[in-house]
This record gives sequence, C-alpha cells and structure tokens, in this order.
Amino acid sequence: MTLDSKCLLRHRCKKAGDTGRCNNTCYAFLKLHGESGQGGLWAVSGIPKAYQQSLLKTLPFRQDNPLAFEFVTQYCQDIVANVDKGQGYYFYSVPNDANPKGTGTGKTTAATALLNEYLVARVILHVVRQRPIDDIPALFVNASKYQNAFNAQFRGTRDMQEEASQTYYLLKDRMLTVALLTIDDIGIREATESFKNEFYEVIDTRAVEQLATIYTSNEPIERIAKLLDERIASRIEGATYPVSFKGEDKRRGGMA
Ligand SMILES: Nc1ncnc2c1ncn2[C@@H]1O[C@H](COP(=O)(O)OP(=O)(O)OP(=O)(O)O)[C@@H](O)[C@H]1O
Ligand SMILES: [Mg+2]
Repeated sequence: MTLDSKCLLRHRCKKAGDTGRCNNTCYAFLKLHGESGQGGLWAVSGIPKAYQQSLLKTLPFRQDNPLAFEFVTQYCQDIVANVDKGQGYYFYSVPNDANPKGTGTGKTTAATALLNEYLVARVILHVVRQRPIDDIPALFVNASKYQNAFNAQFRGTRDMQEEASQTYYLLKDRMLTVALLTIDDIGIREATESFKNEFYEVIDTRAVEQLATIYTSNEPIERIAKLLDERIASRIEGATYPVSFKGEDKRRGGMA
C-alpha cells in the first residue's frame, strides 16, 4: 500500500502513489512522519491530530472569510522567506449574535495549515540538501496547556515538581527558538503575575529575535491588554498582523 493518503508531502511529490517508491523507505516520509507514520518531525511539532491534514488546499473558509484566506494563501506562496522575515499573525474572532465567542470559525485551522505547509517546505529543502533541518522547525502550543505546564512545577511532591520543571523548561526553550511558533487560544484564562512574566519573556524574545509567531484568540488584541497584560498585548501587536475571522460555529455538528 502506498503512503500518499497519510503523507503531507503528497501534493509536492512526484513519487506520491507510486507503488514501489511511495512506501516507508522514502527518506522524506521518514523525516516528516517517521517509520510508523506517527513519528518524525510532525509528531514533535505538537500539532493536534484533528488538524493533521490542515493545508492550504483544504482551507474551508474561502467563502466565509475571504480576507483571511487571502492572507494565508499569500503567506504560503513563499512561506520559508516569510518565516525567515519573522512575519507573524494574530488570528482572532469577531463575534455575532449567533456565535457570541466567535468559536469554530477557522482560526486554529489557518494556524495549523501554516505550520504544516512550513514543515513540508522545510522537509523539501532538507531532502534536496539546500537547508538541513537541525532543530524542530515548527511548533504548536496551546496557551492553556503551556500555563498548566508552568503551574505543574509548583504542585505535588518534590520529584514531581522537578520532573515538571524539566518538562516546562524544555517546552519554553523550544518556544524561544523555534522558527515558526503557534500559540493557540490566548486570553481565555486568568493568569498569575509570575506566569505573565514567563509569557512576556517568550513573546518579547521572539519579537526581539524577529521569529515568526502565529497567535489565535477569541479576543481582539485590545482585550488581551486587559485580560493578560499591557506589555504582552503591545509585543504581540508589534510583531503580528491582525486577521479577523467571522461566521457561525462550524464545529457544531460533530466536526473537529
Ligand atoms: N468557514 C468554514 N466552513 C466550513 N468549515 C469550517 C469553516 N471554518 C472552520 N471550519 C471547520 O470547523 C472546525 C473548527 O475550526 P477551528 O478549530 O479552526 O476553529 P477556531 O476558530 O479555532 O475555533 P475556537 O475559537 O473554538 O478555537 C474545523 O473542523 C474546521 O475545518
Ligand atoms: Mg481554535
């Protein structure tokens, strides 16, 4: 059986679907998906399974959110250069009466499409030996899970705290250095001063180092200043372009 249905490279690969070549001896497949198909760079990128096939070609919101669609399309036209430039986005929702929080409008889908497209582009450059991959190129972090990882350092036995600390600092280190980072769903929870300082450090470092970051949120950036911190909002605003998403909640009805 060929691997093209599982492989994110299929749209860019001449071998896709070729019995005899499209199998787990393919170097590019191994790099991106690992021998099992569940490993490789994709697995360490932390992209949730529901968004595994999220790509430019499959974006569902062309009609409902044409401007957002245009921005994502433009970005993907030269995604490596855009990431290198440090171009980021703030994907947020515009609520309406039927959808008061603006959920299920395609923000995470858009952000994960950019991560997947960037991984594809970097694996191709790696395979043709133009730009070797030394570190994880793309990372998805849910803001609440990041906050939980931080808080876990102060709970439980000493051993538990030490282990949690190691996990947290590995994650933070990746967030500080990865070429393309998505921080999903910011501004949904209250945060302590010490967490706000950590979050600020990550955001500020990425802004100063001109590393590309995609944020998603159900709140416009002005609300982030109130919910989290003026400094956090100002750094995000300075390093990203705001893109709004509207419409009904498309998640209803058993979708992801
Ligand atoms: N305009 C659309 N048409 C059809 N399906 C859509 C549209 N927008 C999003 N979807 C689908 O709706 C589901 C939820 O999308 P997604 O997770 O990207 O929403 P979100 O804006 O991140 O929501 P939340 O604010 O709750 O995080 C996905 O299955 C996605 O494919
Ligand atoms: Mg989302």
